[in-house]
Amino acid sequence: RISNELQSMLDAHELLRKFYHHLLVNTKEGQHALEYLLNRGFTRESIDKFQIGYSLNSWDFVCKFLSKRDFSPEWMEKAGLIIKRERDGTYFDRFRDRIMFPIFDRHGNTIAFSGRSLGAEEPKYLNSPETAIFNKSKILYNYHLAKPSIKKMQHAVLFEGFADCIAADRSGVENGIATMGTSLTDDHIALLRQSVQSITICYDSDKAGIEAAYRAGNHLHNAGFQIKVAMMADGQDPDEYIKKNGADKFRSEVIGASLTWMAFKFLYFRRGKNLQNEGDRLAYIEVILKEISQLSKAVERDHYLRQLAAEFSLSLEALMQQQKQFFFAEK
Ligand code: CTP
Ligand code: MN
Ligand code: MN
Ligand code: MN
Ligand code: MN
Repeated sequence: RISNELQSMLDAHELLRKFYHHLLVNTKEGQHALEYLLNRGFTRESIDKFQIGYSLNSWDFVCKFLSKRDFSPEWMEKAGLIIKRERDGTYFDRFRDRIMFPIFDRHGNTIAFSGRSLGAEEPKYLNSPETAIFNKSKILYNYHLAKPSIKKMQHAVLFEGFADCIAADRSGVENGIATMGTSLTDDHIALLRQSVQSITICYDSDKAGIEAAYRAGNHLHNAGFQIKVAMMADGQDPDEYIKKNGADKFRSEVIGASLTWMAFKFLYFRRGKNLQNEGDRLAYIEVILKEISQLSKAVERDHYLRQLAAEFSLSLEALMQQQKQFFFAEK
């Protein structure tokens, strides 16, 4: 059993989730926000499925809404929904004039919100703070809806953002989840391990996304997951790609064409290098040899060594000879 205070935090989130959604889909105040979403390619169906909402452009709407219903302001402040003014101890709403994405726990309780600004206001996404009911490093966005499909397919797709996860869902990729602007933690991995061991990482294909995919991939690979990495051209993210190219192409040419973890690393280490340049080429060969030497299966090592030898017209003997230094260094 949970305490009355925790229960009141959950109740307030539940009420606000419904009200924010109502404001978005049924009111004149929410109309510009609804138009923003529809313009971006969100459908009415996904707006309902993900219970997306809108918070009014007001400093005290939530304060009044909650106090009318006898919620204690102290606890609502601890829940991250309102903020206390230092100077006079009065309160104001945390989320104002934002698209509201409810964050659900794995049982489907609303435990936090992420509010996206409609224009250029910073931050782009304003998240609930860490609270007694919300721990960002343990939550995977959409896990509660995606879990049955993840279990059935024995596969999950990991995205960087909510918009990507929602656009993918609309495209028929229902086993998608996303972290909440943090990197992948051990807690996320422990949660995933309960239902799946094979994951496609589909982060933004910009520099930050590729670096993050490399880190997440290493983390997951070391934890024993089977990894693939899906990439898009021109630094796009999945949401942009789907808007431009459609659902079928996303499924076949992005998710369907994902790279093996090793193939991704080949590309990753190649970025920014000019392989026509001798120094760059030798540096690349060295780092790939090291990666190959860390593979546990002899057949895989042999496969990639031959590939590397063929690509750079090197003898297999020379590569194997050079690789020995890593075996001695590691073990
Ligand atoms: N994020 C955040 N705070 C920010 C920017 C990003 O918490 N100021 C998190 C959000 O969870 C976001 C994710 O990082 O979904 C990825 O960031 P980004 O790629 O910049 O956002 P998009 O998901 O592409 O969002 P949008 O398409 O709405 O611009
Ligand atoms: Mn609805
Ligand atoms: Mn990004
Ligand atoms: Mn993005
Ligand atoms: Mn985006």
